[in-house]
Amino acid sequence: MAHTHLGELLELDAAVLHEYYTELLDWIGAQLPDRPHIVDLGAGTGVGSRALARHLPTARITAVDVDAEMLAHLRHRAADDNLEDRIHTVRADLDQPWPELEPADLIWASASLHHLSDPAAALTQAYALTRPGGLFAVVELDSFPRFLADPADAALEDRCQDLLAAKRLEHGLHMGEAWGTRLAAAGYTVTAERQFDLVLRPPLPAQTTRYAQLALTRMRHGLEDRLSVEELAALDRLAADLPHRADLTVRAERTVWLARRPA
Ligand SMILES: C[S@@+](CC[C@H](N)C(=O)[O-])C[C@H]1O[C@@H](n2cnc3c(N)ncnc32)[C@H](O)[C@@H]1O
Repeated sequence: MAHTHLGELLELDAAVLHEYYTELLDWIGAQLPDRPHIVDLGAGTGVGSRALARHLPTARITAVDVDAEMLAHLRHRAADDNLEDRIHTVRADLDQPWPELEPADLIWASASLHHLSDPAAALTQAYALTRPGGLFAVVELDSFPRFLADPADAALEDRCQDLLAAKRLEHGLHMGEAWGTRLAAAGYTVTAERQFDLVLRPPLPAQTTRYAQLALTRMRHGLEDRLSVEELAALDRLAADLPHRADLTVRAERTVWLARRPA
């Protein structure tokens, strides 16, 4: 169940922030050879794999994830979009020795590297998989999106974000890492680091409400042990009330590092 919602949240994230995705794919796609082979690390439901395949009609994608359920979802969605011939899935734990994969013109890792227990070891394996002259794109989020504009609601949202950041730290998640430094340590030459500050203001399409509801609910469940009963009730009220609000706003931050394996 939790997975279903994470999958839906990932899909909605891409749909709501589609302009940013297009800008990102235009930028990176322009630097790839014709008929590229792309490896999507921690592909999840395949938001990135499918966007890459749609944007680059000659690309072939290998989508790697440890989670069989995510990969099953990915295959269904790829078939729905008639992309199944160009996207294939590999189940693997990226914290272990990787299975043999075809060399990549682009390795894409969106919101996945921070989950790994040993990112340095994974980046060493990624380097070996990258064709000389090939690229590695890391996409990471510094924090989860924010939605609330009213000052009292925004203050609660801020407090939740701070608590979540502390919890991530305790769990050893590598969020907020200097991925450029890590890519360089693995042998890559970092060619760009771009920060995308995304702000969507009302009126927003209906799917934004569902996106905000899922994100707030997920945050609420993640903080059940840290928030007061009153704060949890306030979050529940806010999530239920979202469809009636005219001031829903989306603020999200993404950082993208692009690096090249020397030719
Ligand atoms: C937040 S999701 C991101 C999914 C997708 N890249 C996106 O941008 O929507 C992180 C993904 O990393 C995968 N993951 C976490 N640890 C992993 C590991 N050790 N090996 C392979 N995949 C892993 C999870 O199963 C999950 O699908």
